[in-house]
Amino acid sequence: MNITFYGHSCFEVEINGKHLLFDPFISHNPLASHIDISKIKADYILISHGHWDHLADAIEIAKRTNALVISVYEITEWLKKQGLENVHPMNIGGKKIFDFGSIKCVNAVHSSSLPDGSYGGNPMGFVIESSDKNFYFAGDTALTYDMKLIGQYRKIDFAILPIGDNFTMGVDNAIICCKDFINCNDVIGMHFDTNEYIKIDKQEAIRKFKIQGNKLTLLEIGETISK
Ligand code: NI
Ligand code: MN
Repeated sequence: MNITFYGHSCFEVEINGKHLLFDPFISHNPLASHIDISKIKADYILISHGHWDHLADAIEIAKRTNALVISVYEITEWLKKQGLENVHPMNIGGKKIFDFGSIKCVNAVHSSSLPDGSYGGNPMGFVIESSDKNFYFAGDTALTYDMKLIGQYRKIDFAILPIGDNFTMGVDNAIICCKDFINCNDVIGMHFDTNEYIKIDKQEAIRKFKIQGNKLTLLEIGETISK
């Protein structure tokens, strides 16, 4: 499994030869100006919620790649109005098997509206299971007891968690999430440093995870790692 970070909450995960793109927000992110979105591969685009910093490039990349766009029903309906046809609606609690593995939508405690003010349904996180590895992409969320259910019923090999605080969990709550709730000590951080509200001390964050026996990886924008 290869994981590429495109800044903010955008990751491309290659599983069993398929490319899953999460929360594309690249061309409007000044930190990601070196990323050429016309080169990004996508078979599936997963959108956690309707905020601009999670879907700004979704329509353009979906139109070019013809990727299947997966999100909550209200967002896929909105995307259809923007001209996308290849969409798959889901909602919290639902699991669906695709050719790479499966997606289960889980609760995220946040808000959601589309860029034009339309209702965005409920924000979600995604649990991805595959013959390779299982992981949890939390989206924008607070720490919530619902995360205990994720760790209770399946093995999570790694988790992609927001750590920027202010709009989502910060570092201390993300440590509680991985250590006490989802039972996964391997975390990739997201939703930090993109703007003034969510600037963090990266070395301090890594150190805090480490003293609790957990690993925090903060990827450079454009960096790929294998798991
Ligand atoms: Ni948000
Ligand atoms: Mn956000």
